[in-house]
Amino acid sequence: MTILVLGGAGYIGSHTVYELIDSGEDVVIADNLETGHIEAVHPKARFYKGDIRNKEFLDDLFNKEKIDSVIHFAANSLVGESVTKPLKYYENNLYGTMVLLKSMVEHDIKKIVFSSTAATYGEPENIPILENDRTEPTNPYGETKLAMEKMFKWVANAHGLRFVSLRYFNACGAHVSGEIGEAHNPESHLIPLILQVPNGQREKIAIFGDDYDTKDGTCIRDYIHVTDLAQAHILAVKYLNEGKESNIFNLGNGVGFSVKEVIETARKVTGHPIPAMISPRRAGDPAKLVASSEKAKKILGWKPKYADLEYIIASAWKWHKNHPKGYENND
Ligand code: UFG
Repeated sequence: MTILVLGGAGYIGSHTVYELIDSGEDVVIADNLETGHIEAVHPKARFYKGDIRNKEFLDDLFNKEKIDSVIHFAANSLVGESVTKPLKYYENNLYGTMVLLKSMVEHDIKKIVFSSTAATYGEPENIPILENDRTEPTNPYGETKLAMEKMFKWVANAHGLRFVSLRYFNACGAHVSGEIGEAHNPESHLIPLILQVPNGQREKIAIFGDDYDTKDGTCIRDYIHVTDLAQAHILAVKYLNEGKESNIFNLGNGVGFSVKEVIETARKVTGHPIPAMISPRRAGDPAKLVASSEKAKKILGWKPKYADLEYIIASAWKWHKNHPKGYENND
């Protein structure tokens, strides 16, 4: 039984492939390598370079390989970029997924797990956030992910597919081996940016706003280790293999840390003073995003193993220290 991982050369995709292969699965990866990295492709996975918007490419792949289920990470995922380039997000995330679904329907592939996001909620009504809380995205990234969820619902209805949508909160950390990790260009995420300071690539970290209605005035997020996210995908495939119905799950630790707390923990882990300065708020940042993942725990049997923020940052540090330029030549 082969699992196809679309976007398996990206950050969360590559970590999921490592966990799948460790658990004995046969894995095929497809990635257009636009934001993914060939170096992140697991040597035991069969790799196809191609784009989900190319139906011929997908049809060929489904004809060649006996795919039992699909895990779909292939998407653009930068909130800020989505605001300035919305059509890029509609084309890749939404149209790309439509082409994928067409090909899956034609090839009678009935199970799919895919990446969704906390950005589907927008400004939350309640903390912790539940899956059936209001979804009102405040940017095109969240909007395309929510539209993808709805497309899956209707296509599943009509064509007998089943899906699991996983709404990630703040993915972070790196594989225990230190061989794969987060490598975005340009980088916009808090933890890798903080770690650029002890790595000598940045003088200080900017704190985007310290006048939010939170305990220390800085934004609160739910940081979840990428390997814990990866494990949830394996459980979601198992859930679909057991014949269970389509479903949506939040994935987070249920604990919020402020930007200041994250910086303080990084100081402790790296032993570097990491100077910080207060900057203006970043447009579109909600004050507080914390997940309730009780549903994933109860229904999927998911148990995050790396909830400790010090461990999360230490695992990211191990990766960034040894790969200051990500997957580029680090000599
Ligand atoms: N931040 C700073 N300084 C920086 C970078 C970030 O203070 O240099 C702050 C942000 O303002 C935010 C927090 O750190 O309060 C985390 O920011 P990230 O950019 O790391 O992550 P986001 O919470 O903005 O985004 C994450 C995911 C998105 C997802 C979104 C849901 O990366 O994919 O949560 O809202 F869409």
